[in-house]
Amino acid sequence: MTARNSPQHFGWVARLFHWLTALLILTAIPLGLYANSLPFDTSEALSWKAQVFSVHKTLGIAAFFLALGRILWAVTGERPAPLHPDRKAEMFVAHLVHWLLYLSMLIVPLSGWIHHAAVTGFAPILWPFGQDLPLVPKSEALGEAAAAMHWLFTKLLAVSIILHVAGALKHHVIDKDATLRRMTRGERAPHHPVLTTPTFLSAILALVLYAGAAAAVVATAPRTDEIAAAPLTQPAEQSTAGNWQVTDGSLAFAVKQMGQTVNGSFGNWSAEISFDETPVDGRNGQVTVQIDTGSLTLGSVTDQAKGNDFFNVTSFPQAIFSAEILPEGGDYIAKGTLTLRGIEQPVDLPFTLTVEGNTATMSGQVTLDRRAFEMGKAYADESNVGFAVVVDVNLTATRSN
Ligand code: HEM
Ligand code: HEM
Repeated sequence: MTARNSPQHFGWVARLFHWLTALLILTAIPLGLYANSLPFDTSEALSWKAQVFSVHKTLGIAAFFLALGRILWAVTGERPAPLHPDRKAEMFVAHLVHWLLYLSMLIVPLSGWIHHAAVTGFAPILWPFGQDLPLVPKSEALGEAAAAMHWLFTKLLAVSIILHVAGALKHHVIDKDATLRRMTRGERAPHHPVLTTPTFLSAILALVLYAGAAAAVVATAPRTDEIAAAPLTQPAEQSTAGNWQVTDGSLAFAVKQMGQTVNGSFGNWSAEISFDETPVDGRNGQVTVQIDTGSLTLGSVTDQAKGNDFFNVTSFPQAIFSAEILPEGGDYIAKGTLTLRGIEQPVDLPFTLTVEGNTATMSGQVTLDRRAFEMGKAYADESNVGFAVVVDVNLTATRSN
């Protein structure tokens, strides 16, 4: 049993690589489909879905590294000669499918991995090497585009596998030749003198097919300049009342999901602020913040967060924080109520304020408990979604009178 290939046979290393990759890919495909189809309406269901996704991602990454090793092995060694070098068209199709498979072995897991790295939260890869990828920024739009690529490329991969297996079976059953046995048992086949094989053309066609599929995704996905231009948090809308106009700001929050911190924010909100450094009757002013709950993003779980169990944005499109501003230990505190999902709860937001001329910069943080707003009732413990939600408010405002 030789490790290296010869013109007559596949050595055991090439065969081991082939069948291991096939096994991993043929396990990853049904796992991906199954994970996608699973519900996530209860804590147990979400936990199971995440576990299946974690195994899918981990197997997929193993398949990626195996494919790298396999390709390295293939390019540094010999390829067994074709059994029917005279059948030009058949060889062209076989080579085209081989090239599509080689491309898929790298690009399918890579697109899944880029999707995973571009968004935060949900099912982690089961390894100790971190969840991010160098050069891949956190971006919802990039994540969506990579997910669309992953979806489409898995279909291209599935078609290639079907054609590939059909070809192998045709050789075995109809031609009754040694093609399949060369790959299973390492059987040696008679050596034909190799005629010029059209492998270069089939490689180009495989690349064109892949590029075409990628172009179709790019054409329908958000434009890349929008991805680059989209800030992580949008500036607040101009307020209409009060003596301060918000010019810039962010309303962000963080929650633990499966032990990992997931960061979210609201893209659309407005604030009416009346404030004076000199307190009157112990109060410095009043603030009302209106938040468009539908504008929230929360990593890969934005849709779940908008759903009935959490923000329920269809029934409760607005959240309102209304508070008095009072002095507190050299800084300030906004003491009031937050109405979220129609539930009113007292909330105190301590904040720091720097006023320079007519420009003020404020920064405050408050930790809320999602249970106070009956959020995520189906997630009764913290194993999937933490109880604490850390809200971070930062804004710059200018005095208007
Ligand atoms: C995900 C699954 C699979 C992938 C990615 C895959 C990929 C590949 C690739 C890239 C080659 C070319 C090898 C080379 O040029 O060195 C190859 C060869 C081969 N594969 Fe697969 N394969 C898969 C599954 C299968 C299955 C299920 C069968 C059998 C039914 C099979 C049978 C063969 C045979 C017989 C060859 C040798 C073809 C020849 O001599 O030209 N493969 N495979
Ligand atoms: C050879 C490797 C892989 C194969 C064959 C594969 C295959 C699949 C398939 C068939 C689906 C279901 C698509 C559908 O619903 O039609 C899927 C979904 C998914 N895969 Fe993979 N995958 C691979 C690697 C990876 C890797 C490495 C990751 C991440 C690190 C990943 C992340 C995902 C995610 C997040 C989804 C769900 C996408 C969505 O919600 O739209 N996959 N994959």
